[in-house]
Amino acid sequence: MKLAVIVDSKTGNTRQAADWIVQGMNRVGNAEAKAFTIPEVDEDFVKEARGIVIGSPSYAAQMTPDLHTWMMSSAGKLGFAGKLGGAFATEQFTHGGGETVIQSILTIEMVNGMLCYSGGGACGMPVIHLGPVGVNDNVEKHNGMVYYKNNFIAFGERFAKKAADICR
Ligand SMILES: Cc1cc2nc3c(=O)[nH]c(=O)nc-3n(C[C@H](O)[C@H](O)[C@H](O)COP(=O)(O)O)c2cc1C
Repeated sequence: MKLAVIVDSKTGNTRQAADWIVQGMNRVGNAEAKAFTIPEVDEDFVKEARGIVIGSPSYAAQMTPDLHTWMMSSAGKLGFAGKLGGAFATEQFTHGGGETVIQSILTIEMVNGMLCYSGGGACGMPVIHLGPVGVNDNVEKHNGMVYYKNNFIAFGERFAKKAADICR
């Protein structure tokens, strides 16, 4: 079961989160999960994937322009319709707009016919509402991506379990 995690990442934080999600996904049975930045995307792998999780840094509480452009041009040709979809974000402020970024990614996924999943509160702790958000330590020195590692791993594992369940 192929699963793709696709991100825009200029300074590595969102890419790091993607790698943790892949780690969680690959804990599940026959999952074969891979992470890609936009230039690295293996289109054949993504077309065959049962699920796609998409991540972005918060840029003024929006997804990046590059990710938006990529989603607009790729959703059709990579066959998003019918696949399981998820979203996540990174930011440098605790209230830096990550949830808004996730909502807008999920909206584009749904518009393109994806079935969106986060696990929500149904999986217990850690509770993840719309998708995981990581806060880096660029500005908030008490914060840092490592504090969110387990949330990304848990999200990846839950997403892969759901993909396996619904795509049997
Ligand atoms: C143009 C620009 C706008 C940004 N806007 C925000 C913002 O609104 N809120 C926030 O918390 N961080 C903001 N950031 C910080 C990034 O979201 C944050 O550092 C993120 O983790 C970077 O991800 P990356 O390392 O994968 O590129 C902004 C960064 C840039 C370059």
